Amino acid sequence: MRIRTRLHALLGVGMVAGVLVTPAPGVRAATPPGEATHRASARTSYLLGCGGCHGEHGHSSPAIVPDLTGQIGYFLCTPEGRAYLVRLPNVAFAHLPSDQLAALVNYMVFTLGGSSTPKDARPYDAAEVDRLRHEPFRMTDFIAYRQKIVAGVVHACPQAAHFSSFAPDNPYVMALKH
Ligand code: HEC
Repeated sequence: MRIRTRLHALLGVGMVAGVLVTPAPGVRAATPPGEATHRASARTSYLLGCGGCHGEHGHSSPAIVPDLTGQIGYFLCTPEGRAYLVRLPNVAFAHLPSDQLAALVNYMVFTLGGSSTPKDARPYDAAEVDRLRHEPFRMTDFIAYRQKIVAGVVHACPQAAHFSSFAPDNPYVMALKH
C-alpha cells in the first residue's frame, strides 16, 4: 500500500496534467460499439483514475505496476481472466457508475490491449460489470489468484506464453517464485 501511495503522489499530478494534451493511441478496428465521445470519456476516466499509476499509454514501471498495453487483452482468453479484470479492487471500487466503468474497461482491453485482445472478444456491458464488481477479491488473495488466472490464460492462448513472466522484477512475480 505504501508503494501505491508513493506512486500516486509521484506520478498522479504530472501524469494527469500531461495526458490531457496528448492524442490517444491508435484505436483498433475491433473497437467495441460506442461513439467517439464515449471513447473519449472512457479515456478520460482511465487517465484520471488509473493513468497516474498505469501510465498515460498503459505502460508504467513494470517492476511495480503491471503493464496494460499489448498484454491486458490476454485475460479475455478465459472467463476467469475476463472476470479478474473487473474483480480487481482498483477496478471494482472505482468511483464510476457501472456503465462508465464498462466503457473504461473496454478502453483498457480494446485500445490499450491491442493485438493481445482475442479477435472475437465481446465488450463488457454495464450489467456484467455491475455483477462482477460486487464480487471483488481480497488483496491477500492477489498473488495466488493472479497465478492461477494467468496459467489458465496461457493454456487457452499459447501466444500469451511470455505473459506469465511479464515483469521478472515485479515483487509480486518474485514472490510467486519463493
Ligand atoms: C495507486 C496506483 C494504481 C491505481 C490508481 C490503479 N492501479 Fe491497477 N494496479 C496497480 C498495481 C500496483 C497493480 C498490481 C497488483 C496490485 O497490487 O493491485 C495493479 C494491477 C492492475 C491490473 C492487473 C494487471 C495484471 O497483469 O494482472 C489491472 C487490469 C489494473 N490494475 C487496472 C486498473 C484500472 C482499470 C485502474 C483504474 C480504474 C487502476 N488499475 C488503478 C496500481 C494501480
